[in-house]
Amino acid sequence: MTYVRVAALGELEEDTPKRVEVDGTPVSIVRTEGEVFAIHDICSHANVSLSEGEVEDCAIECWLHGSTFDLRTGKPSGLPATRPVPVYPVKIEGDGPDASVLVSITQES
Ligand code: FES
Repeated sequence: MTYVRVAALGELEEDTPKRVEVDGTPVSIVRTEGEVFAIHDICSHANVSLSEGEVEDCAIECWLHGSTFDLRTGKPSGLPATRPVPVYPVKIEGDGPDASVLVSITQES
């Protein structure tokens, strides 16, 4: 599995998604509840960037129609979205704010 560095830990604000591209794939990186998650940045309902939505209770909300997706599983918790969004494994290397946040999009977790 290949991991790509997407940010330094200190660049990620709590509950504020950061949109990155990994090998051309849009990914939303979210730091919340003491962990960092990576979820595909496009809603499974329509072509909307999830990183523009709000984060709450370890889920990200699509701002257009309000479906929320669990950051651990990518599953929607309510309509209109019915399909999950891919989530990707994250690794943190190093310590403190300079620690590297790495994501692998070669395998969905
Ligand atoms: S576009 Fe995301 S819920 Fe409709």
